[in-house]
Amino acid sequence: RIKEALTAEGYEIRYLPEVDSTNEWAKREAKEKVTDGRVYLADYQSAGKGSRGRAWESPRGTTISMSVVLEPKVTPEKLSMITLVMGMAAADGIREVSGIDTKIKWPNDVVHNGKKLCGILTEMGAGFGYLVVGIGINVNTADFPEELSDKATSLYLETGRYFSRNAVVAAVLNYFRKYYSLFVKDGDLTSLVDRYQSMLANRDQRVRVLDQRNPFEGTALGIDKTGELLVKREDDGQVVKIFAGEVSVRGI
Ligand code: BTN
Repeated sequence: RIKEALTAEGYEIRYLPEVDSTNEWAKREAKEKVTDGRVYLADYQSAGKGSRGRAWESPRGTTISMSVVLEPKVTPEKLSMITLVMGMAAADGIREVSGIDTKIKWPNDVVHNGKKLCGILTEMGAGFGYLVVGIGINVNTADFPEELSDKATSLYLETGRYFSRNAVVAAVLNYFRKYYSLFVKDGDLTSLVDRYQSMLANRDQRVRVLDQRNPFEGTALGIDKTGELLVKREDDGQVVKIFAGEVSVRGI
């Protein structure tokens, strides 16, 4: 069981062996009462949700599925930055426990050698009243379905070692507490941008920016203190700011 011996100060942790989706569980409870800093943790999700309406499948007992409820103390236009803050916390927590040289694929996938270790899905409830930040981490997963094998990896597959999921949860939440309070204090990513930049997998890489109206190619330069990605457009050399959630970016 994942919950035993878990210490992450400042968080109230709710645990179930199995749930449909920790994000859905968190939202159901938040409809009754929002509790800032409450964490929903499960060993298994029967209907895990990925980004862009996709399913997020994770085998029983080898992964982390958790969701953190926040009552953000910032204005709505800043909410997308919180997902980047969690991405950083996940990258650093995983690195601390496993020694893996984690990178972040903007805005918030934690990757190693181009394969995904962790995904984040942030949802908003009650207008902008609360936020559910869901994190899925592949910890001890030994194999993935064929179609994911070149896209997904786990801490176990990268190191040949098994890890305590409690240790990973605690490390991620401890980094998140620190990074989130810096974000709230600054009102943006000022104190975090250098650290984020040093882990940015897309940095100086050619990327394709996928936007329905007007896709283009360019070089990713880094992020600014609002978390937008700066991309130097190939055809005219202009630097364009990309807002997370609006478009997606692929490496080429
Ligand atoms: C992605 O597609 O990269 C986002 C994956 C997010 C998965 C996590 S697991 C815990 C939380 N509950 C869900 O149903 N999804 C998120």
